Amino acid sequence: MPQSQGKPRAFLTRLLPEPAPTILRGAFTLEGNLEDVQLTAAEMRAGVSGARAVVCTLTDRIDGELLDAAGPGLVVVSTCAVGFDNIDVGAASERGVLVATTPDVLTDATAELTWALILAAARRVAEGDRLVREGRFLGWSPSLLLGRELRGRVLGVVGMGRIGRAVAQIAHAFGMQVLYVRRGRAPEPQPMPPGTVWHRASTLDALLAEADVVTLHVPLSNETRHLISRRELALMKPGAILVNAARGPVIDERALVEALAAGRIFAAGLDVYAGEPSLTPGLAELPNVVLLPHLGSATEKTRRRMAEFAAGNAVAAVTGSGVVHAVNAEAVVAAAKQRARELGALGGDGVPFRA
Ligand code: DGY
Repeated sequence: MPQSQGKPRAFLTRLLPEPAPTILRGAFTLEGNLEDVQLTAAEMRAGVSGARAVVCTLTDRIDGELLDAAGPGLVVVSTCAVGFDNIDVGAASERGVLVATTPDVLTDATAELTWALILAAARRVAEGDRLVREGRFLGWSPSLLLGRELRGRVLGVVGMGRIGRAVAQIAHAFGMQVLYVRRGRAPEPQPMPPGTVWHRASTLDALLAEADVVTLHVPLSNETRHLISRRELALMKPGAILVNAARGPVIDERALVEALAAGRIFAAGLDVYAGEPSLTPGLAELPNVVLLPHLGSATEKTRRRMAEFAAGNAVAAVTGSGVVHAVNAEAVVAAAKQRARELGALGGDGVPFRA
């Protein structure tokens, strides 16, 4: 690709849909991977060198080593995702690099996919599909693939952020009550549709004991890794359904395999995996789990909007025009102040540039 005179360089780790490449070319000399395949760590290190912006996806590992390979001119890592557990945000902040994400635009798509998993798990949709395709459907039967009805049951939403809330807002249409837990206190979630019965559970344990369907919408962090493990699965109602469209490691999948195999819970619906794309041994052999290949945001409209958002974040961060949705803006400023203090440019009170 010819180098445009004077434009900073952006490195794209994987082909994103239009208009993202066009937006990026407007502000940058765009280089990188214009195929939909993942780069190796070595290719990434070589590619990012000298970049002002790195535009990546959730399958790329962005750590201190990669940031150092980019060099001191790197301003922003812009991921085409709302989740950013693949990025060492602390390492980025220390180096003064913004980490930008694409919230909101994928909320509805992910909430709809969550309901697809809830319904598929409750009504054994994937099992039914396999049975018909494999020629095992011998006609209507009063006992064939009996599932669970949702009306009158309790939906337990773990993580009442944007996506959790959007999932909860649909519950009323299925005649379900909502029980939720969220970190922190204020702000309370936006109002539910009229008539929705919804309560905050006192603890996660209380939610697990009461919910008929438990759906996970927390980001992956040290606090949420294995949030649902053997102990939590044991607290769930016999016959409950567990759905994960957040991040795989939030569930201890070995414990989940045991619980499903033992019939401890009725079923699970998973869009994400602990060792994605590898599956925990035993998972694929279980009939009572619906397995999807991380499709939460996978609609044409949403992927286009995510890519556009990610490109816009990169341009805004480098040109200073427009809004960057950065998850570490404060930390970057704090790190810059700290560096300035160390260099003697800031007073102890944080006032810049003593005379
Ligand atoms: C995200 O943006 O984090 C989603 O997992 C993508 O589908």
